[in-house]
Amino acid sequence: MQNTEEVRSALSDRIQALSESQTIAMAKKARELAAQGFDVINLSFGEPDFQTPQYIKDAAKKAIDDGFTFYTPVPGYPELRQEIVNKFKRDNNLDYKPENIVVSTGAKQSIANAVMCLVNPGDEVIIFSPYWVSYEEIVKLAEGVSVPVMGSLENDFKVTAAQLEQAITSNTKLVMYSSPSNPTGAVWDEDELRAIAKVLEKHPQVYVIADEIYEYINFEGKHFSLACVDSIKDRVVTVNGLSKGYAMTGWRVGYMAANKEIAAACDKLQSQVTSGTCSISQKAAAAALQGGKESALEMAEAYRRRRNLVLDSMNEIEGFKTYLPAGAFYIFPDVSDYFGKSYEGKTIENSEDLSMFLLADAHVATVGGEAFGAPQCIRFSFATSDEKLTEALRRIKSSLAKLQ
Ligand SMILES: Cc1ncc(COP(=O)(O)O)c(C=O)c1O
Repeated sequence: MQNTEEVRSALSDRIQALSESQTIAMAKKARELAAQGFDVINLSFGEPDFQTPQYIKDAAKKAIDDGFTFYTPVPGYPELRQEIVNKFKRDNNLDYKPENIVVSTGAKQSIANAVMCLVNPGDEVIIFSPYWVSYEEIVKLAEGVSVPVMGSLENDFKVTAAQLEQAITSNTKLVMYSSPSNPTGAVWDEDELRAIAKVLEKHPQVYVIADEIYEYINFEGKHFSLACVDSIKDRVVTVNGLSKGYAMTGWRVGYMAANKEIAAACDKLQSQVTSGTCSISQKAAAAALQGGKESALEMAEAYRRRRNLVLDSMNEIEGFKTYLPAGAFYIFPDVSDYFGKSYEGKTIENSEDLSMFLLADAHVATVGGEAFGAPQCIRFSFATSDEKLTEALRRIKSSLAKLQ
């Protein structure tokens, strides 16, 4: 019999170097506390609290009844890829063919595919920071070198073209960002992205993953895709998916649009790792896209109301530095004014401690900023009901008042 330590040390260096997802870890802690009978309000989630719209569920039921139970083409059913082509034309004015599209098991797999297909060991990957937790870990798996570039709170956490220019070296292979952003909700506008494209024009060895998974949750209403800049379009992998906009996190459907060589490489990788995405989810996704974005925009309206509710309340909290999140369903205030304060003999050293304090004292789950590359901040998700948000903020205020 091997003991636990022996088996643990037999695990590959690759997996030992990988961190557990902090957002998933926090959700687990919140569930444990709830199981002990505490009334925990979970603001750590990165998913809509809405049900998937009924017409999409119906399409999935029909897919089962119609016998769509077999392996699917690795890059996705042709009709789904065509719906995605149509979506890019309708929403983003981007011309693609089905050969440019690869459907994957969530946008997370699309991102992992693209990184694995583009990054060699030692290549530098510039990540706009604060960033989504998985970017850095996926780069680690590809043995790339992450180069986080931090946007300033004064600029709503948006990295500028000048900052990008400074960070690019002859070893830079890839740039990754999400807009709207997780964790900040920042949305880069057309001018800002065109300025970024101008920088990239000078560096033809640099590719980009533009993660647009929160596209429909945009409170300004204007989304710009970097791939719309013709001079760099072939170097931009646009990632999107159904999880956030259509409230379909559990269905696991994401996709990318890319130069056909990159798409073919991702198809090859996927063929050896997972094969095509679930047949039923693909049928549901095709119906979702065909139905347009009305249901997604209705949900986005609810997020806008909640953002305003949370922001109004957060602006009253002394020591929270806020800004206006223009999209997604997160707010990421700088909470560093609380570092060094104590309660019952315990000192808050960092955002992780503050997040833990809020869980223990207010029974509100959040995620410390460390995992997003910004240890001075905490991420609060507002993808929950107005009532829960109001109560959570009341509790947070009263707990924070105890810190001296
Ligand atoms: C910025 C960002 N990209 C990608 C994903 C992954 O989405 P999916 O559920 O489609 O894998 C998430 C999910 O939290 C995200 O926040």
